[in-house]
Amino acid sequence: MFTAFIRRARATPLAPLSPLTPLTPLTPLRPPRAPQLLALLALALPLHTLPAQAADTSPAEQLARFATLAGAPGQAERGRVFFTSRHGGEWSCASCHGQPPVATGKHASTGKAIEPLAPVANAKVFTDTARVDKWLRRNCNDVLKRECTSGEKADVLAYLVSLKP
Ligand code: HEC
Repeated sequence: MFTAFIRRARATPLAPLSPLTPLTPLTPLRPPRAPQLLALLALALPLHTLPAQAADTSPAEQLARFATLAGAPGQAERGRVFFTSRHGGEWSCASCHGQPPVATGKHASTGKAIEPLAPVANAKVFTDTARVDKWLRRNCNDVLKRECTSGEKADVLAYLVSLKP
């Protein structure tokens, strides 16, 4: 009777254990995971704050970059006309960035505030090359239904850099 109980007791726990066995290899993995996660977090935190202060360039450098690509210096007055023209579409650059863009702009469709685009009013603009390229691609497509040429970008930069508060 007792041995029968033991046999049953031994027999029954074995069955529910077997589905658990595939889980056991996970336990040894856990300890190394925690430090890995911490290391990832340590990496991710400063990375997350980086783009805002990447500062890999300056407005003057961006102006020089586009002028070099265009093979001609940017012209501020031509840039002003370009910036305020609608180019046959619904919006000009000024529709969202204001005119002159030395104050907080307002997105023409979402109404969201946009920080001033003129370097004199915003120390952060044109300090991150990837960001400059990303927004120029997007905004030129919105306004002109194509990318801006290097000459147009040089003109806009010359105009923006020339603005006084
Ligand atoms: C429909 C609204 C809209 C229009 C039109 C628009 N922009 Fe923008 N632009 C934005 C928004 C939004 C941002 C991002 C602002 C932010 O994140 O603070 C931006 C950012 C930029 C930046 C990035 C500046 C930096 O270094 O941070 C540049 C350059 C720029 N715009 C140029 C232009 C030019 C040139 C035109 C006209 C061809 C134009 N934009 C038209 C909405 C617009």
